[in-house]
Amino acid sequence: MAKRLRILHYPEPVLLSVAKPVSDDGFANGLKAFVEDMFTTMADAGGVGLAAPQVGESKRLFVMDIPEGDDSAAVRAVLINPEILHVEGEQTGDEGCLSFPGIFQPVKREMRVVARAFDVEGKEFEIDATGLAARCILHETDHLDGIVFLDRMSRLKRDLAKRKIKRLQKRGEW
Ligand code: NI
Repeated sequence: MAKRLRILHYPEPVLLSVAKPVSDDGFANGLKAFVEDMFTTMADAGGVGLAAPQVGESKRLFVMDIPEGDDSAAVRAVLINPEILHVEGEQTGDEGCLSFPGIFQPVKREMRVVARAFDVEGKEFEIDATGLAARCILHETDHLDGIVFLDRMSRLKRDLAKRKIKRLQKRGEW
């Protein structure tokens, strides 16, 4: 039975740190169960992507579950030790993050991403994604490098978001 993990909110230090690659031992030891827990946690929280540092694990992996949309095919996958191989184009759209509840701000990202990663069996694969799926891969890969979407906002939007976070923290709603 998959269990629901606690999602950490900004500015927990693990969210601002570079995550560690999953080793061969890591693949052998309970990774499948952890990945199932991450899918369950993400679905329960209504998210389309969730990176391991967001549940307090310094591991280079994330799960994503993107419905088919105007600019993107449906993608449900786990990307372990992902590497961005190629990006092109540009898109700007509202973005959210499960570690920033209630914050939605426009973020500029590339329109297309080609990435390479390992699946839960340790098999390497490539993914060629556009639109929301590309946005998700870039956002989640950022998490593995300790970069949060605040860092990708314009200065104005970032200041607005930070003020809102402070207000919510004061009210004990963060
Ligand atoms: Ni996020």
